Amino acid sequence: MSDKTNNAPAVADALNALLADSFALYLKTKNYHWHVQGPRFRELHLLFDEQAAQIFATTDLIAERVRKNGAATLRSIGDVGRRASIRDDDSAGADAEAMIRALAGDNKTLLGQLKEVKAAAEADGDIATSGLVDGWVDETQQRIWFLEATLGY
Ligand SMILES: [Fe+2]
Repeated sequence: MSDKTNNAPAVADALNALLADSFALYLKTKNYHWHVQGPRFRELHLLFDEQAAQIFATTDLIAERVRKNGAATLRSIGDVGRRASIRDDDSAGADAEAMIRALAGDNKTLLGQLKEVKAAAEADGDIATSGLVDGWVDETQQRIWFLEATLGY
C-alpha cells in the first residue's frame, strides 16, 4: 500500500476537524457580533462581522478539499457538534472583553488545527491542501493580532 493511501484519511480527518471548528468559530463570532454591548459597540460589532465573514469564506474550500481527496465531509450541524473542539458560549450578558479573550483563544485553537492539516498534507504530498492552508494561517494570525491588539497586548 502506498504512502498516499495510508495518509489520505489523516488529511481528510484533519480537514474535517478544521471544518467543524471553523463552523463553530463562525457562529460564535456571529453570536458576539449580535450580542456585544457597551461603549465600544460599533467597533467590535464591525470587527466581529469581518472576522466571521473571513472564517465562513473558508468553509466551502475546506469541505471541497475533503471531497477532492475522495472522503466524506460534514453533513449536518450534528456532525459539527460531534467533531468541534471550540466550545459554544450560550451565556447571556458576557462583557466585551470576555468575548475578545474567548475569540483570541479560539482562533489559537483553530491555528493548531491548521498546523495539523499542514503536517498531514505534507506527509501525504498533498501540495494543494498544503498551499491552501498557508493563506488560512495568515488570516487566522491576523484575527488573533487584531483581537489581542484590541485588548492592548
Ligand atoms: Fe450583522
